[in-house]
Parts: sequence; C-alpha cells; structure tokens
Amino acid sequence: MKVKDKKTFYITTPIYYPSDKLHIGHSYTTVAADAMARFKRLTGYDVMFLTGTDEHGQKIERVAKEKGVSPKEYVDHIVAGIKELWKTLDISYDHFIRTTDPEHKETVQKIFKKLYDQGDIYKSEYEGWYCTPCESFWTEVQLNEGKCPDCNREVELVKEESYFFKLSKYQDRLIKYIEEHEEFIQPPSRKNEMLNNFLRPGLEDLCVSRTSFKWGIPVTFDDDHVIYVWIDALSNYISALGYLSNKDEKFKKYWPADVHLVGKEIVRFHTIIWPIMLMALGEELPKQVFGHGWLILEGGKMSKSKGNVVDPLILEKRYGSDALRYFLLREVPFGSDGVFSNEALVNRINSDLANDLGNLLSRTVAMIDKYFDGTIPSCAELEDVDKELMDMALATPNKVEELMNQLLFSNALAEIWKLIGRTNKYIDETMPWILAKSEEQKPRLGTVLYNLAESLRFISVLISPFMPSAPDRIRQQLGIDNFDDLKSWDSLGEFGKIPAGTKVQRGNPIFPRLDVEKELEDLEKTLPTESQKEDKSKESSKEKEGDQKKDTEEKAEITIDDFAKLDLRVARVMAAEKVEKSDRLLKLQLKVGDETRQVVSGIAEHYSAEELVGKDLILVANLKPVKLRGNLSQGMILAASNEDGKLSLVTVDKEIEPGSTVS
Ligand code: ME8
Ligand code: MG
Repeated sequence: MKVKDKKTFYITTPIYYPSDKLHIGHSYTTVAADAMARFKRLTGYDVMFLTGTDEHGQKIERVAKEKGVSPKEYVDHIVAGIKELWKTLDISYDHFIRTTDPEHKETVQKIFKKLYDQGDIYKSEYEGWYCTPCESFWTEVQLNEGKCPDCNREVELVKEESYFFKLSKYQDRLIKYIEEHEEFIQPPSRKNEMLNNFLRPGLEDLCVSRTSFKWGIPVTFDDDHVIYVWIDALSNYISALGYLSNKDEKFKKYWPADVHLVGKEIVRFHTIIWPIMLMALGEELPKQVFGHGWLILEGGKMSKSKGNVVDPLILEKRYGSDALRYFLLREVPFGSDGVFSNEALVNRINSDLANDLGNLLSRTVAMIDKYFDGTIPSCAELEDVDKELMDMALATPNKVEELMNQLLFSNALAEIWKLIGRTNKYIDETMPWILAKSEEQKPRLGTVLYNLAESLRFISVLISPFMPSAPDRIRQQLGIDNFDDLKSWDSLGEFGKIPAGTKVQRGNPIFPRLDVEKELEDLEKTLPTESQKEDKSKESSKEKEGDQKKDTEEKAEITIDDFAKLDLRVARVMAAEKVEKSDRLLKLQLKVGDETRQVVSGIAEHYSAEELVGKDLILVANLKPVKLRGNLSQGMILAASNEDGKLSLVTVDKEIEPGSTVS
C-alpha cells in the first residue's frame, strides 16, 4: 500500500550522453522539465525531478581511448560541466543520477538477473548491425541503404555471443496497453508511428549484452558480458528511486512516473523496450512518455557532429537564465520542431520581456512613486473596467494549470501574456495621468494603481515556474518580497491581497531593452559554430574554392579507403542567387534526397544564377560546414578548371535522382 501525504509528481529528462558541450537543444528538454517541476511544486505537489548522465557504452570507451584517458576520468570531467550548466540555467533537479553510481549498477545487475532467472533473458548469438553513435541494433531490412535509419551514419557488422531479451513475448500486451491508454504516448502522432512502424510489423528479441568491449555494467553471472547500454540507461528511472534495494521508499512513493520527457528520436526506446522491461518485472508503466521536437538551426538539427551548436552558457551570460528559458518555452510549441535563431531570441526579449512585462512594472512603480509618494494606495469603489481586469486575473491560473497539465508551455505563457496585455491596456483605458490632474479623482487614481500592483503580483506568481529570478525582482519593486503568503499559488484565489500602505521600491528595468542590430552583430561574433572555430584558418582558402587551382603538383597516393571517406552525392540546384557584396560567390539551394542543402560556391564569374537552376551537380556532402560571408555552406560542389581560368561544373550524364551516391 502506498502511503502518501501529498499528491506526488515524478518527472524525468533523458539522461544525457556525456559530451564536451551540451548545446541549447539539450537545454531545451531540461528547461521544460524544470518548468514543469516548479509548476507542480507551486501547485502543491511533492515533486521528484530526475536528470543525470548516461555514461557507459562503446562510444564513450572509444572517445576516451582517443583522448588517452580512462572512460571514468573522461566522464567525470564532463559531468562536472553538465552540472555547472544546469546550475546556470536554474535547473531545480531533486536528484542527479550517473549510470556509474554504484547503486545504479547494482540495481541494473539485479534487474538483468531477475529477467534471466524468470526466462525472459536467454543466451544465443547475435549477428547483425550496430550503430555506435546511436547505440542501436538494426536488422538488415531496417537499414536505410546500408546506413543507420535514425542518423544515416555507417553501421558495423556485429557477430558475438549475446544475451537476448524476449520482446516478442510481450508485444501483444504492449500493443493492447498503448491502444487502451490514449495518454501513454504523446503527442498522438508519435503513438501511431510506434504502432505502425515498429509494433504491428512484429518485434524481434533484443540483444542485451556485448562482449567486444568492456565499458559497461558486467553481467553478474557471466562476466565476459556487459549489459546493453539502453537497458542500463532506461533503468535509471527506477534505480534512482532505490528499486530492488533495501532503500526503496522513494520507489514506493513516486513510481509510476507521471511523465518521461524525451526527444522524438528516443521515443522508440521509451515506449517499446522500457515498458516491456517494466511489464516483465511486474511493475506499473509510466503514465506518459512525451516526445518533444528538435531545436533546429539552419542546416538541420543542432548536433555536435554537424558543428552547428549554440552555446547556452554564452547566451545565459548575455541575457540571463530567465530570458533564455522564456524564449525556449515560448517560441516553440512543445511537440513540434522549432528553429533557433539569434534574431528570434533578441526580438522576443524586447517585445515580450522588456516591453510588455518590464515596462508594465516600471510604469506602475513610477506612478505610485510620483502620485502617492511610493506608497501603494488603497482600492476604493470598483468600476466595470476594474472588474474586467480582476476577472481575467482570477481566471488565468486555472487556464494555465490546464495547459501545463498537457505540457503546452508555449500556450500557458501566451495565456499569462494575455493578462499582461490586458493590464497594459487597463493603463491606456484608465489614463492615470489624467486622473492625477484633479484632487477629486485621487481615490479613483488610487484604485487604478492598486489594481495594477495587484495584477503584477498575480503575474509574478504565474511566471515563477518559467522564470526563476524575475518574480522576486518584480516583488522587490512592489515592496512585497517579504510576504510569503503573497507568492503562493493559493494566493491567486483572491484579487486584492497586497496590503495598502506597502512601500514600493523603484529599481532598474528588470529586462533592459536591447539594441537589435548591435546584438545580432555581437552574437555573430561571439557565437561561432564549432566548425567555424576550427575552420577559421581554413576559411580563406575555402573562400577561394572555384578559383582556378593552379596546383598541378603531385598529390600523395591514396587507398580506396581514403576515397571511401568522401560522401559524394548527386545534388539538384533548386534555387541560386548571388551573395551580396561578392563578385565570386553564389548561394545554391540543393536537393539531396529528402534534404535541402545550402552551398556557397565561388563560381559566380563562370555561371549565372539562372542557368544553374535545374542542373544536377556533384556535391561533397560530408565536408564540414563553414560560413562564407555569413552564409552557411554545407558542402562543396565539384568543378573542373584549367590554367586559362576556365571552369566547368561536374554533372551526371543521365537522369538520376538527386541524393544518389557517386563512387
Ligand atoms: O539520447 N533539440 O542522450 P542525448 C531538442 N543518453 N532536443 C535535443 C536536441 C535538439 N537539437 N539535441 C538533443 C540520449 N536533444 C540517451 C538517453 S534516456 C534513458 C537515454 C535532446 O544526450 C534529445 O532529444 O543524445 C534527448 O531527449 C536529450 O537531448 C538527450 O540526448
Ligand atoms: Mg541523441
């Protein structure tokens, strides 16, 4: 029997692969989970918010080896940085789990043993494909032209003795469960994808141990084997609660999780392997797995390997954690992909934070200062316009709660901003500066200013899950930061709780207005992409691409393997235009399979933009992206040139789909 004093709420993020630098895309899941955790605490729940790091596996072992350190040394260093980032972004996790924690290892070993003892795990031989970057097994038919269907990178043939987990045995039960529990996989599109693409075609048993490397949790009864990293990683959600240990109070209290927040590319692991593990263990399934979209930069999903990462630490330093968090949660509806751009960030800060919210506070406090000597006046008789504002303020908390319960962060914020907008409009309608002209209107003026202060109090509470520091900065200026009972969610049940006579304290704008042009210019400079950093030196030579290459000097002999490193593709020119202020550069939009690539090429003196459209060219598709004159260039097109300065583009001699490989 579960004994619960308070309603509990258990929320998790994925545990992160240790990587040198987490980018703004990673911060996105964690910021969302944090806002939700704070919201639930505010509304009276006993919250468990878990995050952590996923530290085992072949990928980590390889990187550590390359760096000449032990895997543990490598991850320790990185984990420290990740914790620092979460501190900077005000992430209020209750527990940070590392899969290298001894308690976690023990739980995973017990889970494995239990499943083995009951016959759900058995020994056999695995022969198939493995994608090391994704730590995913694939069958021949699942591969996409021989590549990993998730990330499109090379897979490796693996043949080794392995343990297998009987996914197939539980397949029908899982299908039934998913069909009967609408809310289990969200948003619904992800549910259909899982059912149609994976479950209904039939599951194969899953290979759950490896023998060809060491960096993992050993199988207790067969120590040549380490446990498959996804079995290890997924178990974190219950090992963190003391599952199968003698300290399992938290498991009893918090399990099943209310929601696992995950990026859309790992929904599959969380809605197939994880629930089957739980079914086999005889435990309840999490109430929900929510698969959110990606933050995209020009050129595709932000990822380290693509070199298009945005550093959240730099942005936080410039704009603060409140603004960055607000932007992430407001800009992109939570289930969809969203584009990150500096411009959108700066504009949001100016319009929503500096203008709408910041000005409202400054104007209100300034008027109380000017007309009432800095003392919040009392509220006299109410007029219709006052009641309208009050009604809206009183209705907002419920609306926000309803939206938050569906993880609709952006809509919840929009609802709060409606109240902010309404309050700003209230100033225009009541025109305090006119009221101030007559002594007779003083009580009316007092009422208006009181209502403004009280509305701002509501706003300060409503935004607190999203923005950890702005609420107190607002309350300091209103002079109410010492009144704890004015900060609670319950205090929003009544409009009119600020005691008249409270002293306000004018302060600096809580969100200073930004000079857009200047910010964008500075950001371009301070936020070079990873690839730019590395390629700065090479940039000038790259910019000469298309110049006649006069170097007829002999090049070193290469092997077929060297050549195979090139990813050459047929690319169709869909659009072309000149790059501003450059005589040589053309910007091309190329269709390569399903993808559109932008490539900047120094061929403007040889080809006009118009004549290129429709041509099928050859693209070096795996060239590290660079920026040329501020334009992202994702690859290079091939051309022949001679000493007389002639240049001719390489093309194909028969119709073939764009995206076809060239070798
Ligand atoms: O997948 N936009 O870890 P991870 C939005 N260790 N979200 C992004 C993103 C982007 N550009 N890039 C990454 C793993 N993420 C496993 C999880 S859980 C038992 C094991 C999100 O470090 C990504 O979708 O590759 C995922 O939810 C999270 O960052 C961690 O990714
Ligand atoms: Mg990933």
